[in-house]
Amino acid sequence: MSDALKRFGIPILGALPLVGLVIAFSLDELGADPVEKFTHETGEWALRFLILTLLVTPLRRFTGWSWLAPHRRTLGLYAFVYAAHHFATYLVFDLGFDFAFLGEDILERPYITVGFASFLILLALAATSTKGAVKRLKKKWIALHRLVYAAAILAVVHFLWLVKADLLEPLIYGAIVAALLATRVPWKRSTARSL
Ligand code: HEM
Repeated sequence: MSDALKRFGIPILGALPLVGLVIAFSLDELGADPVEKFTHETGEWALRFLILTLLVTPLRRFTGWSWLAPHRRTLGLYAFVYAAHHFATYLVFDLGFDFAFLGEDILERPYITVGFASFLILLALAATSTKGAVKRLKKKWIALHRLVYAAAILAVVHFLWLVKADLLEPLIYGAIVAALLATRVPWKRSTARSL
């Protein structure tokens, strides 16, 4: 694989779904309910990018592809960018920018509560994704960025909670997230216990 592809492939590919959605939205090509379609698509892409972020470390360990390492940040930022568009669509088109309604929804609709919690985590991670923040926060940075696992779990719960009938799709996402989290668990028994 060429160096240019390794460096720019993921950043360029990551932007394509959003560019496609924005163009389709502006041309009124998103079907009968464009706002609903835009909300659903951006929500799903946010979850997909969160999953891709979690995939980087196990994939790097398995394949030895060290060039993937900086893309964990890129993919995480894309998860935030898609989640921000998802949230903004809801805030502008569903709530008409009414923050009182937003507060009510967060308090009264559990799927919004968990979606909002996941979004706040992504916001904190994006805000501290700079080299300066890594240096400043030191060990706290690692602890903070472990919250990405919570963001992924909350996003799956958000999806499970909002679907009314067919649970298959959110359950598939849930199984993928669970498998990726399982790769982080130190399964090996300590030598003392195994003796
Ligand atoms: C600010 C917080 C959030 C709000 C207010 C919010 C709101 C919504 C709404 C209104 C829907 C459509 C519900 C319906 O069909 O009736 C939705 C769907 C969805 N959201 Fe969120 N969301 C938030 C955060 C997130 C985050 C952070 C993620 C992922 C990382 C996410 C992923 C999804 C997914 C996967 C769907 C379902 C899409 C589909 O049906 O294909 N949401 N959300």
